[in-house]
Amino acid sequence: MREQYLEAIGITVWSQRNFDENKTLIPDLSQQGWDELKITVEDCTRCELCHGRTQTVFGVGDHGADLLIIGEAPGVEEDQRGEPFVGRAGQLLDAMLSSIHLSRNKVYIANILKCRPPNNRDPKPKESLTCGPYLERQISLLQPKVILALGRIAAQWLLKSDSPVGRLRGGEFNYGEQQIPLLVSYHPAYLLRSPSAKSKAWEDLILVMQILQNS
Ligand code: URA
Repeated sequence: MREQYLEAIGITVWSQRNFDENKTLIPDLSQQGWDELKITVEDCTRCELCHGRTQTVFGVGDHGADLLIIGEAPGVEEDQRGEPFVGRAGQLLDAMLSSIHLSRNKVYIANILKCRPPNNRDPKPKESLTCGPYLERQISLLQPKVILALGRIAAQWLLKSDSPVGRLRGGEFNYGEQQIPLLVSYHPAYLLRSPSAKSKAWEDLILVMQILQNS
């Protein structure tokens, strides 16, 4: 209102704009809805991963979902298709969801990074820091009842921890100001390499289900 008034009488209004350490503008996401946020992500050039991507991988699922699943970053197939978890690990994730009577269109699935790191290397901490606000805004828009972090990168970033997944899983944490229940489990790609860990992942899913049922 004040700004509109000042502009109407011909006074230029300067607003505070924030830049990150790469001198790129940090967009104000706080008023962005799903559609605008998706476009902001599609246009993002705030780190070097934008040069190697086929497209951004924003996230998929129900905007009213109770369960938010967070992975690490798109792989080669996700980069091609523009959707998270569509490769072999994604097929296992679908099977895990179906074991608790859920499907990818009844939950919401997103990654810490929206662009594929080259050769599927781990995200660099700086990349997670740069990309993280997009996920944070997705979480505020979604307001899920439970967050499930899959794998080390997602778990450590969300919990600001350096503990290994094996130590974080099994615990019930809370995320952000809203204290959203957050659980950690193994990444499906790890489960493909280490099928003996599937029984522990199953225990994690049971816990997810219990929290959803009690919420
Ligand atoms: N691994 C992830 O963490 N996310 C994907 O989208 C695909 C594989």
